[in-house]
Amino acid sequence: MKTLKLGTSDLSVGRIGYGCWRLSQSTPKQAQEKIETALSVGMNLIDTADIYGFSEPSKYTDQDNGFGEAEAVMGEMLKAAPALRDQMVLVTKGGIIPPRPYDSTYDYLTGALERSLTRLNTDHVDLFLIHRPDISTSFEEAGRALDSFIESGKTRYVGVSNFTDAQGRALQSSMKNDLIVHQNEFSALCQDPITDGIFDQCQERGMTMMAWSPLARGDLATGQNNEKFDKDKFARVKAAVDDLAKIYNTTPANIALAFTLRHPASVLPIIGTQTLSRIKDSAKADSIDLTAREFYDVIEAYRGEGMP
Ligand SMILES: NC(=O)c1ccc[n+]([C@@H]2O[C@H](COP(=O)([O-])OP(=O)(O)OC[C@H]3O[C@@H](n4cnc5c(N)ncnc54)[C@H](OP(=O)(O)O)[C@@H]3O)[C@@H](O)[C@H]2O)c1
Repeated sequence: MKTLKLGTSDLSVGRIGYGCWRLSQSTPKQAQEKIETALSVGMNLIDTADIYGFSEPSKYTDQDNGFGEAEAVMGEMLKAAPALRDQMVLVTKGGIIPPRPYDSTYDYLTGALERSLTRLNTDHVDLFLIHRPDISTSFEEAGRALDSFIESGKTRYVGVSNFTDAQGRALQSSMKNDLIVHQNEFSALCQDPITDGIFDQCQERGMTMMAWSPLARGDLATGQNNEKFDKDKFARVKAAVDDLAKIYNTTPANIALAFTLRHPASVLPIIGTQTLSRIKDSAKADSIDLTAREFYDVIEAYRGEGMP
């Protein structure tokens, strides 16, 4: 798999990453198989968060609400297979805490990262992200927390998730260190970053855009509109993706990934399948080079009209 440098950092990562949102109900042994499969095809960026597992049964934490479970499963896996840690560029996120619902105060984020490291059974992560913007806390305070994490060595780099362009800029203006990534939803069925300034900011500042749910939580692969996208938009986009799958003799899932990779910003889709064969197959998307016209076909299908 091709690689890229994550934002302005010196971290080299495969162009497609593996996400652990759906990993919380795996055993550590099953998690190990998934992570090893991802690593074997070059997906060395492994994305998790403290909230992953929330509302699900807890087995590896003392919480009764599932908070921390996906990290704890990974921590158990790393206890059994510690050599995996250095093969990963490990990303976690904090700052979502129901029912508040978001907390980016210095004290909360500091404690959250500490608890993530304990669950993950590691002394540092490679990248820590604020998971969602906390409107009740100043950017100055949140930025001070992120800077302190780098200074203490608990993370090598920092970034943000689900921030707007303006929120990213405001946070950055109060910090000493660079935010190296945005992580936002981006897929053929959610094209907001193309027009909301996120991709522009990434190109301007050399940041990477980690694209979450690049298959629209599976709907672009299955053709089932489970996420209840606008019916006509869904049909148009799915048809455009399916047509390209026929041309490239590949799966709609891999065309959906190739679409995200075609944007000229540094885009890194994070896949979430729990199926080993699908993890392996997804790596092939990296070698599909859509033409600019084909890229526009999917954009125009989403818009429901040609470009102006
Ligand atoms: N920052 C944020 O707020 C945020 C929010 C959401 C997600 N994320 C990150 O993004 C990652 C990916 O999200 P996601 O799981 O929604 O991504 P996704 O890759 O868009 O969707 C994965 C889902 O698609 C299903 N699927 C069905 N057919 C498939 C096929 N042919 N190939 C591949 N998958 C197929 C998978 O089912 P099977 O498992 O049965 O294969 C799985 O349920 C998460 O793990 C997390 O790390 C971040």
